Amino acid sequence: MLERIYINRCWHFKGDNTDELVDVPHNVKDIPYNYANEDDYQFISTYEKTVEIPLKFKDKILFLNFDGVGHKTKLYINDRLVGEHIGGYDAFKFDISNYLSYGNDNKIKVLVDSTEDPNIPPFGNVVDYMTYGGIYRDVYLDIFNDKYVNDVFVKPINKDNKWYASIDIELSAIANYKLSIIYNNDVVVSKDVAPVSEKHNIEIEFDNPKLWDIDNPNIYLLKIELLENDNIIDTYQTEFGLRTCVFKSDGFYLNGKKVKIIGLNRHQSYPYVGYAMPKSIQELDAKILKNELHVNAVRTSHYMQSHYFISKCDHLGLLVFTESPGWQHIGDDNWKNLVCKNVEAMVKQYRNHPSIILWGVRVNESPDDHNLYVRTNDIAHKLDSTRQTGGVRCYKFGEELEDVYTYNDFLDPNEDRGLSRKKDVVKSDIPYLVSEFNGHMHPTKMFDREDVRVEQARRLSRGMNEFYGDDEITGFFAWCMNDYNTHKDFGSGDRICYHGVLDMFRNPKVASYLYSSQGDMPYLELSSHLNIGDYDASVIGDVWAYTNADEVRLLRDGVLIKTYTHNDTPFKNIPHSPIFIDDFVGNLLEVNEGYSHKSSEMMKQVLYATLKYGSKMPFKYKWMYIKLMIKDHITFEKGYQLYGKYIGNWGSKEIVYSFEAVKDGKVFKTINLGKARKYHLEYKISSDTLCEDNTYDVALVRIKAVDQNGNVLPYYNEGFNVEATGAINIIGPSTLSFKGGYAGVYVKTNGEIGKGVLKINSSIENKEIEFSSK
Ligand code: GAL
Repeated sequence: MLERIYINRCWHFKGDNTDELVDVPHNVKDIPYNYANEDDYQFISTYEKTVEIPLKFKDKILFLNFDGVGHKTKLYINDRLVGEHIGGYDAFKFDISNYLSYGNDNKIKVLVDSTEDPNIPPFGNVVDYMTYGGIYRDVYLDIFNDKYVNDVFVKPINKDNKWYASIDIELSAIANYKLSIIYNNDVVVSKDVAPVSEKHNIEIEFDNPKLWDIDNPNIYLLKIELLENDNIIDTYQTEFGLRTCVFKSDGFYLNGKKVKIIGLNRHQSYPYVGYAMPKSIQELDAKILKNELHVNAVRTSHYMQSHYFISKCDHLGLLVFTESPGWQHIGDDNWKNLVCKNVEAMVKQYRNHPSIILWGVRVNESPDDHNLYVRTNDIAHKLDSTRQTGGVRCYKFGEELEDVYTYNDFLDPNEDRGLSRKKDVVKSDIPYLVSEFNGHMHPTKMFDREDVRVEQARRLSRGMNEFYGDDEITGFFAWCMNDYNTHKDFGSGDRICYHGVLDMFRNPKVASYLYSSQGDMPYLELSSHLNIGDYDASVIGDVWAYTNADEVRLLRDGVLIKTYTHNDTPFKNIPHSPIFIDDFVGNLLEVNEGYSHKSSEMMKQVLYATLKYGSKMPFKYKWMYIKLMIKDHITFEKGYQLYGKYIGNWGSKEIVYSFEAVKDGKVFKTINLGKARKYHLEYKISSDTLCEDNTYDVALVRIKAVDQNGNVLPYYNEGFNVEATGAINIIGPSTLSFKGGYAGVYVKTNGEIGKGVLKINSSIENKEIEFSSK
């Protein structure tokens, strides 16, 4: 293209009783955090804007591009209908050259229908996610000469130990061009091409190939400059990566090396504004997945997501399984044609992203439909010979039309296993991947009781452990990255599905610790605050340490109780397995009470059995107690005292438990659990420098209320106020509440340059956070 002009700013928006100036990305109607109503955003709205088109563009070709509009669009230029688009998740463009008045103002009007039209995917039945509406991704004008590069697909090929890029090029008309391949700003290949047809293929061999993989996501830039009389008349650029990705029945191979795919499902939604978030916040999710949750993959359930997000996955080395829109339901023939169009758009629009390793060509969890899925598989295979297809079901032994059987495994948690075995799901030896796990089987809120929060982590640990121990399962995508707003039929009645390992603001639940502990950065978190009163009959549940330390030392009031290692776990296959903490007494009975080692160990077992079984203690422990009564004269009264002192801890003076994470002999983190008595706020901002670029910019502030030891206050659910001054505004309401000790605020630039301040006024502490907007 010759030039790209973003037109995200200042649209005159008329929605449901609203008439205002707005910037894109835009949501037709913002919704409350919970108890939102999906009927509220379903209406037809208009976006209007006057754009001056200079005379110099008169002989050019102008395409107006929309990267994403929910869910049907009609475009009018100067009151003439240019065209329509159906579908909320693919990019589309209109040639508006013949509708414009050059050298003058031109009226652009976009009619956006955000109703859930049963005739288009994913609609027609219930859907477990909100679908929002509006022009929620960028809008831009691309200006071309009559000769331009229409499409390019760079296919990485590895044959005979050599690496090639096989580049399919489609020109609007034959023209000579210069092709360059750039790596880290250096031109590594430069080639003059005189094609003989518009559609052709160029093969480039790489001398010193820099492969794309998870740890080293090397990115090349391909540049094509069309030439006419030595003038550049069109420039096309795309990034690509050199890598091969193959699912085999015994595993997934990236550049010939086996990789266990560990991922999470992601919905692209955010509190209040739904899908409407700009580049930085799309990218933030990729960073959170890679750098905070340490997964190596993401599934873009259940639709194509922002190129900003996918490009960040390219640059971070996150594998992507992307799929076309839909949820369980299949409609009539026209509806099926739209599914095929979506698959085509998905493959054509995303195929240069090296991070994408698998095309999802089925409507998520839809029944088998032979003809439809033969078509979608064909489309994907014809348009991309380098990647395989998957098709997500929630049932076993479905028709094996795709290359990979991708299965949502919601096995009954009472079964012996957390995950099904491949042989119990598929008919043949087809590659097999778990595309969802857990989710609705155990919804978990930030403010749920500790045992509920820990159980989510335990289930995921169980699934993950079996996945790592099973070569036949190529990937494990749990449901899901973050909580999300949903329709009335799902969630907890408040229009939120609490299935995330993070909440909607991307704050961590206990389950996220399992993922975060898999990274290399020193990490230690605990599943419990050790408050017995939070449990039925004061019987504290399982306690886990999530860490990548070599060992975790448990101290009670400074006295070493036990040193735990990764052998202390039932989940041995997980690279950094959660450590099971089951002894808070150590040898204290020996040291403090003077019993022999044998008697102390026996007494400890009896005390823990009392904790676990109460009066229903198995005979084995009763018998131990009888022996202790005879040998050490431990009366019932004494036993009761010991229980209170070492296990129950009622009324005793404060006991501080310390957990020290040790790596290479050094303590890198200590968590002290004692009585919470002094409180303050901590926060983490995605960026304190915001940049008004092609549109407004947004930063996320994640806030937590903690005690004097830095431990979150899990039941701090108080309200607080936020106020923004200067160059930032707040997204959403200014009166908010903590949820399970955590809160979040999104701030956005408002067009001013300079300083912006976010003031947080809470019952614990007032804080001011400074931003600068460029
Ligand atoms: C699956 C579905 C997901 C989500 C999940 C909740 O059946 O594919 O979209 O609803 O259940 O566990």
